[in-house]
Amino acid sequence: MKARIISLHDAIEALKKGNCIGIPTETVYGLAADATSPEAVAKIFLSKGRPTFNPLIVHGSSLDALRAYAEFSPLAYSLATAFWPGPLTLVLPKYDTIPDIVTAGHDTVALRVPNHPLALELLRALPFPLAAPSANRSGRISPTSAQHVLEEFFDQEIGVLDGGSCAIGLESTVLYLPKDPSLPPTILRPGGISRNVLESFFKSRLSLSTSAHSSFTPRSPGMLASHYAPHKPLHFVTPDLSLSPPPHTGWIGYGPTTPQGFARTWNLSPAIDSLQAAPRLFQALREFDSDPHLHMAIAWQWPQEDLGEAINDRLRRASQKKYLP
Ligand code: TXA
Ligand code: MG
Repeated sequence: MKARIISLHDAIEALKKGNCIGIPTETVYGLAADATSPEAVAKIFLSKGRPTFNPLIVHGSSLDALRAYAEFSPLAYSLATAFWPGPLTLVLPKYDTIPDIVTAGHDTVALRVPNHPLALELLRALPFPLAAPSANRSGRISPTSAQHVLEEFFDQEIGVLDGGSCAIGLESTVLYLPKDPSLPPTILRPGGISRNVLESFFKSRLSLSTSAHSSFTPRSPGMLASHYAPHKPLHFVTPDLSLSPPPHTGWIGYGPTTPQGFARTWNLSPAIDSLQAAPRLFQALREFDSDPHLHMAIAWQWPQEDLGEAINDRLRRASQKKYLP
């Protein structure tokens, strides 16, 4: 394997030299580079095979460290104060300090402060913020351990900072705050901060807009229908214990009763707790993908509460076959 685990010292050096490296966060591992350097950021797109129309999230060590990169309205300021460090990404009007390659030419930038001690130590040691998408090949399953990142980039010279397994295991919630304060905030991607937590902050319902914004440019361009995709068919279904599966079928579900007849099962949470299930989800998808005895899998739909909405979003995308335009 060319990708390898590196020390914090070497991570700092590599980033200062303009290289990209794998970093831990509480959500998923990121593939990070100096967000102020177009050349460094270009390496992220190249390594991932990521379409350049899909913008990146910029990570800082604190709200103060990120102020120079976007316009924080009073609402943005209070959200950042309430939820950072944490799995909430705010999409705000960008300043010129962020190169266009980071935002794919949009006039907004996505910002967050990760809640992971090693990531924060790294960010504090750097004179610039880090642009970092999830550290997987474009369209594939997000990594929740350093080992996953090594597997994704086995053929590339990429250093990975090992911060253990990701506690949340699902990407951040992406929240768009329109410049015009009379327009409502919109969730662009459900994630580690659940809708009910945000709705109690706003004391109102929030809308979710993950689909194409206009006929040409998707509002959150990363929200393509097929994503997080295993190489084999995954069927996303309403829970049904009476189903008799065909041979070589896996099951990814939850609840006190694991159904019979499957070749392999992943019970993500016998107690039906989505917070327990989330950090196990991507690992289960990876194990399903790499198990040669399995030809397909059935994944159960979650109740929408708490992280259920985000888990369902990921499973739905993992069950789609092709990228939509
Ligand atoms: O938890 C996370 O968010 C992880 C860790 C590494 O922080 N990062 C992550 O990045 O999931 P990525 O690139 O896989 O997903 C970023 C999402 C995409 O859906 C992208 O389209 C959206 O955020 N996004 C980024 N900048 C945006 C912008 N200016 N406007 C709208 N959506 C944006
Ligand atoms: Mg991603």
